[in-house]
Amino acid sequence: MSEDLFFPVVETKRLILRPLAISDSESLLAIFSDPEVMQYWNTAPWATIQDAFDFVNGSNDSMRNRESITLGVYLKSSDELAGKCMLFNYDRESKRAEIGFGLSRLCWGKGYINEAGEALIQYGFNVLGLRRIEAEIDPDNLSSAKALEKLGFSREGLLRQRWEVNGIVSDSALYGRLASDKPGSTA
Ligand SMILES: CC(C)(COP(=O)(O)OP(=O)(O)OC[C@H]1O[C@@H](n2cnc3c(N)ncnc32)[C@H](O)[C@@H]1OP(=O)(O)O)[C@@H](O)C(=O)NCCC(=O)NCCS
Repeated sequence: MSEDLFFPVVETKRLILRPLAISDSESLLAIFSDPEVMQYWNTAPWATIQDAFDFVNGSNDSMRNRESITLGVYLKSSDELAGKCMLFNYDRESKRAEIGFGLSRLCWGKGYINEAGEALIQYGFNVLGLRRIEAEIDPDNLSSAKALEKLGFSREGLLRQRWEVNGIVSDSALYGRLASDKPGSTA
C-alpha cells in the first residue's frame, strides 16, 4: 500500500482536510490547550508549544509508517485551522481503525465534524479498504455522542472505569460503523 495513501488531501463543501504542518503549531496549541475542548480527552490539555511540535512530528511519523492518518481541518473560506481529525489504531489485517476528532470551541455546533468525519470515513472505507471504523468516547461527552450518531455510528458497549486522567476516572462508550451499514444523516 502506497505511503501517499496516508497523506491525503480531502475536500468537502466548506472544509479542506490535509496533513498538519509545523507552521500549524500555534493554532493547534490554542485549540488543544483549551480545558473545555479537552474535558473528555484521554490526555490533559496541552501546556506548551512543544506539545504541538511533538504532536505534528509524531503524527507525520505515524503516517509515514502507515499506522494512522491525522489531518488538520481547515475552513475553506479563510484557511483557518478549525481542528483535527484522525484515523488511528489501524489494523490492516482486520481492516479496521479508530476515528477521533477535536475542534476549536468557536467551531462547535456548525456541523463541521459531520462534514469532515464523513469524508474521512469514506476515505477509510473506499480508499484504505476498511470494513469497520470504531470510536471510544466518554459517555458524558454528549456532543461527541451526537456527532457520532449523526455519522451513522451505533453504540456497541460500555467499558467501566477505563481511564484515569489527572486523577479523574471515567468510563468509555464504544461506537462502531461498518462499511456495510447504511450511511449517516449527512451522507
Ligand atoms: C465533539 C465535536 C467534535 C463535535 O463536532 P461539531 O462539529 O461541533 O458537531 P455538531 O455541529 O454536529 O454538533 C454536535 C452536537 O454538539 C452539541 N453542540 C453544538 N454546539 C455546541 C456548543 N456551542 N457548546 C456545546 N455543545 C454544542 C450539540 O449537542 C450538537 O448536537 P445537535 O446539533 O443535535 O444540537 C466538538 O464538539 C468537539 O471538538 N468537542 C471537543 C473535543 C472532543 O470531545 N472530541 C471527541 C473525543 S474523540
